[in-house]
Amino acid sequence: MNTDLFQHRGPLAIITLDNPPVNSLGHALRQRIVTALAAAQADASVCAIVLTGNDKAFCAGADVSEFGTPLQRAEPVLATVLAKVEACSKPVVAAISGVALGGGLELALACHSRVALESAKLGLPEILLGLIPGSGGTQRLPRLVGVDTALAMMLSGHAQSARQLVDSGLLDDVVSQDLIEAACARAISLADELAVNKTLPRARDRQLNSNTTRARLIDERAKLTPRQQLQPAYTALLDALEAATLPLDEGLQRERELFLQLQASTQSQALRYQFFAEREASKLPASLNATPRPLQTVAIIGAGTMGAGIAICALDAGMAVILLEQDDGALQRGQQRISDHYQGRVTAGKIKASAAAANEARLTPSIDWAQLARADLVIEAVFEDLTVKQDVFKKIDQYAHPGAVLATNTSFLDVDAIANATKRPQDVLGLHFFSPANVMKLLEVVRGAQSSPDVLATGMDLGKKLKKLPILTGNAFGFIGNRIYNAYRKQCEFMLEDGAWPEDVDSALQAFGFAMGPFAVADLTGLDIAWRMRKSQAASRDPRERYVSILDQLCEQGRLGRKTGAGYYNYPDGKKSRATDTVVHDIIAQASQQRGLTRHPLSAAQIQRRAMLAMVNEAALLLQEGVASRATDIDVVLVQGYGFPRWEGGPVFWSRQQDRAALESDLQTLASASGHGFVLADLSILLD
Ligand code: NAI
Repeated sequence: MNTDLFQHRGPLAIITLDNPPVNSLGHALRQRIVTALAAAQADASVCAIVLTGNDKAFCAGADVSEFGTPLQRAEPVLATVLAKVEACSKPVVAAISGVALGGGLELALACHSRVALESAKLGLPEILLGLIPGSGGTQRLPRLVGVDTALAMMLSGHAQSARQLVDSGLLDDVVSQDLIEAACARAISLADELAVNKTLPRARDRQLNSNTTRARLIDERAKLTPRQQLQPAYTALLDALEAATLPLDEGLQRERELFLQLQASTQSQALRYQFFAEREASKLPASLNATPRPLQTVAIIGAGTMGAGIAICALDAGMAVILLEQDDGALQRGQQRISDHYQGRVTAGKIKASAAAANEARLTPSIDWAQLARADLVIEAVFEDLTVKQDVFKKIDQYAHPGAVLATNTSFLDVDAIANATKRPQDVLGLHFFSPANVMKLLEVVRGAQSSPDVLATGMDLGKKLKKLPILTGNAFGFIGNRIYNAYRKQCEFMLEDGAWPEDVDSALQAFGFAMGPFAVADLTGLDIAWRMRKSQAASRDPRERYVSILDQLCEQGRLGRKTGAGYYNYPDGKKSRATDTVVHDIIAQASQQRGLTRHPLSAAQIQRRAMLAMVNEAALLLQEGVASRATDIDVVLVQGYGFPRWEGGPVFWSRQQDRAALESDLQTLASASGHGFVLADLSILLD
C-alpha cells in the first residue's frame, strides 16, 4: 500500500488531487493521478475509487502556464489520463467541491459517476480563451446532459452551480454536506452493481440521436451573432458537437484536431494574453505598495446616472452608502433610479426581494453635508465642470473626517486641479467608473501628483471589493481610455472629411469586431457631451490643428443623437434602427470642400488600419509619458471599457502582430494626413 498515492477507507481508495491552490492539471499532477489509479486498481483490497480535490477546487483545469510548452505535450497528456480513468476496471467516482472547470470537469466526465456539493461550480470556459474543450468535453458532456444543456454551458463558458445542475444528468448526487460520505456510498453501490452486471456506467456508451442533434446545430449556427462569427472557436464548437454523434473515439479525434488548430491561432493567443493582462492589471507597482485604508461607509455626491450606478455597486458589495444631492428633487430621482434597479432585478428573478431590501436598507439619502463625516470614502459624481467640482471638494474638505479618501469620478478633468481645492491633496484620487457603473467592470484609478500610496491602494481595494477591474493610470487628459478613444474618434472624423461616410466607418469597425462603430456610439451616448467639451476647449485650441466641425454642426441643428431622433444617423421610429440621412452627407461633403479635399472612398481595410494606427500611436505616447505603467493595461482598458474586440487582444497586442516596417511607414503617412497637432510616437516602446 502506498499511502502517498491514496488513502484506504474500508474497501475504497480515496485519491486526493494535490496541486494547490486550485489543482490545475500540470504534468506532475497528471502523472500522479495515473500512478495512483494504477496502484488502486492493482490493490485487491480496493473495490472502488473516489477521486476528490479540496474545498476550493476539485480541479480548475489545464495549467495555462504550460500552454505551448513541451510539458503540455508530455505523457501522460490529459487525454491519456482520462482514458485510463474511464477504462479503469473498478468504479471511479468524482467527489466535487469548489470548482470543476475545463479539463477539471472533463476529468469528472470521464469518471463513472459524479457527486457534488451543491455549492460546487462546474463549467467549460474554453470558449473564453478562443478554444473548445480539448479532452472529451464536447463529446462526453452532451452524451450525459443532452445537446441543449451542453451548448448552453460551452457557448457561454460560464460555470453553473451543482444546485443549478441538479436535474441535468451531469451529477448523480448533489449534497449540502458530507461530500466524501456521499461519494463513498455511490462508489460502493457501483461496485455492487458491477459485481452483478459486469458493467460500469460510462458516458462513451451513450448515444446521441444524430438527426435531432444535427437539426439543433443547424439552428444554432444560424443564431451565431456577427461577433461570434468572427471567432472560429464558436463554429469549431458546433463542429465538435456534431462529431459527438459519431462513435466516441472518432469524435474525440475530431475534437482534438479542432482544438489544436484553435490553440495555434493568433485569436486564442490574444485571448490568453488578455486573461493574463487582466490578472496583472490589478497589481500596483512595488513602489506604491501600501495597506489600504478601511472601507465600510461610502458617500456619493451626485445621484445622477453615474452616482446612482456607483451607489448600487457599493450596496451590492455590502457597504453602507450615503447618497448626497443638491436638492430634494434630484435626491428623490436618484433614489428612485436605485429602487427601480432593485425592483427590476427582483422581477427578473436575479435576486431575492429580501436581498434587495437589505441592500436598500443600507442606503442613506440626504441633502445634509454633515453626513459626510461618517464616510471612509467620498466619491464625487456631479456635473463635469471644473468650477462645480472644485466647489464640491471645498465642501467635502470641511465635512469629511481626517483620513477619509476623497475621489472624483471625472472623465477628463485635471485631478490635481480638483485635489488642490482641498487642504489634503494627498487624500485625493480619481476613480473613473464607466457607464453603466453597476455593469461595467473597468475602473480607472487615477493617481494625482500628491495622491499617497495608501490612498491609491484603497482605490484598488475598492475596485476589488466592487468586483471590478481596477487599473492605475496617471493624471492626463482622458487618462488611458478616453485619451485613446479620443485619438481614435478624431481619426474617424478625419476619414469623414477625406471621403468616408459614417456608415462606412461604423460598418468597417464593426466588421473588425468592435461592438459598435464610433458614430453609432456617439449617437447612443449623445453628441452634446462632446460638444460641451469642445466648446470649453475652443479658446485654448491651436488654430493650426486639423479640427473637424461636423459634430458641432449636427448639434447646432439639434441633432444630439438617438435621444433627439437624429445625430450622425436618423432614428425614424425612435428605436435602435439607424437610417442614413442625406442632410448629414451634405454637411460632411461641405466640410470636405471647405478643407479643400477631394473626397475619395475608403475601403473597410483602409478604415480599420487608420483607426488602429491612431490607437497604437496614442498607446505609445501614453507609455512614453508614463500615464500607463504597463502596455498590457492599455489593452485591458480598451477591451473592458470601449468594446474593442477581446480576440484581437487590444491595440498593443495588435501592433505586435503587424509587420514593423509597414506599421512605421503607415504611421508616418497617417501623421501627414492628420496634419498639425498629431504627435508621432516612437513605436519602439511598444515593439522592442
Ligand atoms: P448627471 O448629470 O446624470 O448627474 C449629476 C448629478 O450631480 C445630478 O443629479 C446633479 O443634481 C448632481 N449635482 C450637481 N451639482 C451638485 C452639487 N453641487 N452637489 C450635489 N450634487 C450635485 O451626470 P453623470 O452622467 O452622472 O456624470 C457625473 C460625473 O461622472 C461627471 O463628472 C462625468 O464626467 C462622470 N462620468 C460620466 C460618465 C457617463 O457616461 N455619464 C462616465 C464616466 C464618468
